[in-house]
Amino acid sequence: MAFIVADPCIKCKNTDCAEVCPVNAFHEGKNMVVIDPKVCIDCRLCVDECPVGAIYSDEELPVDWLDYAEINAIYAKKWPVIKSKKEPLPESEEFSQVQNKRDLFDPNPGD
Ligand code: SF4
Ligand code: F3S
Repeated sequence: MAFIVADPCIKCKNTDCAEVCPVNAFHEGKNMVVIDPKVCIDCRLCVDECPVGAIYSDEELPVDWLDYAEINAIYAKKWPVIKSKKEPLPESEEFSQVQNKRDLFDPNPGD
């Protein structure tokens, strides 16, 4: 099992999750983060930290967002590790209310 960052993270990227992960499993893209399934130890600490409810276990991942399991696995290999909290994206509050943002996913790495 592993935990997966899904659709609500896109254009929110609050990063509270990265701060609490004991194994630094989070990787940062331009407009979301992902979890490396090979590093995650299933501690669940990050789930309640996310203010937009973006993090699910692979067993709980909503059916519409199953592709995020692959997105996490692929982009964890491409994006840099993020270990601590940063400022959320400026549009975070606006996009916290938006659902199904898959088309807005940015494949580029974070800074
Ligand atoms: Fe890190 Fe635990 Fe979240 Fe996995 S479940 S990403 S180990 S905080
Ligand atoms: Fe994204 Fe939530 Fe973490 S918005 S960056 S999964 S705290």
